[in-house]
Amino acid sequence: MHLAVWLVLWSGMLLAQTAEPPKYTGPGSCASPSCHGGVQIRTNTSVQQNEYSTWVVKDKHAHAFAALANPVAVRMAKILGVEKADAAPKCLGCHALSVPEAERARTFDSTDGVSCESCHGPASNWLGPHTTRGWTHERSIAAGMRDLRDPVRRAENCLTCHLGSADKAVDHEMIAAGHPDLYFELASFTAAMPRHWKEEDPFVDVRMLATGQAVQLREQLQRVARDTQSKAQAKAWPEFADLDCFACHHSLTNAENSWRQELGYAGRRAGNPPWNVSRYAVLRQIVNEVDREGGRRLETEVEKLYAIMSSGNADRTQAAAQARATSEIAGRLAQQIAAAPFDQARTQRLLQAIARDGDYISRQGERAAEQAAMALQALYLASVSQTPAANDTQIRAGLRALFQQVENPSAYNAPKFAEQMRALNQVLP
Ligand code: HEC
Ligand code: HEC
Ligand code: HEC
Ligand code: HEC
Repeated sequence: MHLAVWLVLWSGMLLAQTAEPPKYTGPGSCASPSCHGGVQIRTNTSVQQNEYSTWVVKDKHAHAFAALANPVAVRMAKILGVEKADAAPKCLGCHALSVPEAERARTFDSTDGVSCESCHGPASNWLGPHTTRGWTHERSIAAGMRDLRDPVRRAENCLTCHLGSADKAVDHEMIAAGHPDLYFELASFTAAMPRHWKEEDPFVDVRMLATGQAVQLREQLQRVARDTQSKAQAKAWPEFADLDCFACHHSLTNAENSWRQELGYAGRRAGNPPWNVSRYAVLRQIVNEVDREGGRRLETEVEKLYAIMSSGNADRTQAAAQARATSEIAGRLAQQIAAAPFDQARTQRLLQAIARDGDYISRQGERAAEQAAMALQALYLASVSQTPAANDTQIRAGLRALFQQVENPSAYNAPKFAEQMRALNQVLP
């Protein structure tokens, strides 16, 4: 047998024999200057080796645990009747590496905040081996590292905290107590993170954006399905955090000046708070680009759910069934989008398709408009990183104007946002 193959097989067997249930070791085990704690980026290695330093100094995730002691968090705990936010499972699930006692290695410290293993998975089974010569990313994955290069897995991971999951949630009660509302867009939030890795694919952000949108919708639909079962806690139904926040939280004007009355209330009775479709509004054009037929099917199902959720007395059983069915479609589309090719031409088409859809997007509320602004910015930045645009200054000003429109969400104005979208569309290449 060829020696290299034999070696791989042998070490694989060794790993399989010694593999125990994985444990979390804490970021301290990654912090040595010769591992991930360097100060400067190394260029002679495949990874930068300053990941720990970037995280601990610049990344907000490192301060997520400390945030639970800030005055807003303390007041939040008081309102919610929680003893101490930084000891409450209700908070630690997303603000720390919160794992059962049995999965903690000796080095573990939960005050480290959202740390390496919150995203990369428990390290005990690959921590030692992954520093050896010739070790590959694939072998780490086989030993239990989470594959964050896979756009679906990456989006899923971020969204467990940035949208919620079966065992952790930010609902309207928490928001009313002071928690920031959770919204997310994978490419923009990745860019804001500070990035501690190298990317080789120039269109990786486009793939992340596109896949992230589909995974967000899938996860939001799962959340709706879970929220149908909130009866026991005597909570409002539909859960307010599943609805369009600014349908309720906007300032009133006299009737002559009301753009809401002017536009009418398509698909619902006047005055009913609508379901929050912000996680579909931009995805619509992405699906249309990748799989037109699949896009039409998704649209039909989303519209059905919208009608149920915005009806004023949504039937829980019907809502749960419709949310689950639609979630499955979104999940399949996420896989399809993740595997689709992305290049300059496709990036341009997406940019234009979304920019042209301002009338639809703007009417889906402030959160939808915000998704569009983030998506257009991510697409444009990916595009100009490859091919400079002649009217770059104008386009950037157009993007800035979109963000200005969502700066004060309670004052959001759909026709004005649509107008900015048209203006941007005109200067796009
Ligand atoms: C489902 C996950 C999740 C849960 C549960 C959660 N949070 Fe958060 N929290 C987040 C995320 C994500 C952010 C960052 C939001 C953003 O900036 O987009 C955040 C932000 C915050 C902030 C603002 C941080 C800052 O730097 O200003 C505070 C304060 C906070 N959370 C407190 C709490 C408290 C107190 C609890 C428990 C009662 C809690 N959180 C539960 C996910 C969660
Ligand atoms: C909030 C999530 C998150 C946290 C926290 C995080 N990472 Fe990452 N990390 C990522 C993502 C996303 C990537 C890009 C995908 C990839 O290359 O695997 C990445 C990539 C990397 C890479 C490059 C991997 C490669 O094969 O190119 C290294 C090394 C790394 N992270 C180390 C760390 C260390 C060490 C810490 C803690 C100090 C840490 N990360 C904390 C999300 C995170
Ligand atoms: C274990 C939970 C968790 C995971 C997983 C997670 N985050 Fe976070 N993230 C948080 C919390 C909590 C905060 C708020 C920290 C603070 O402000 O104190 C946050 C903050 C952020 C911020 C700063 C937001 C702001 O308002 O400045 C960005 C950007 C971000 N996360 C991106 C990501 C990305 C991208 C991923 C996936 C690769 C990810 N996060 C995965 C919990 C998480
Ligand atoms: C169906 C209507 C409705 C929807 C939808 C709704 N809310 Fe509320 N919200 C309320 C009501 C009612 C209160 C309690 C106001 C009071 O006590 O004065 C409230 C309270 C709040 C508060 C505390 C009040 C304050 O002034 O600080 C915040 C913050 C908040 N909501 C944010 C949101 C966000 C963000 C969303 C979307 C995720 C949302 N709400 C969705 C009706 C709604």
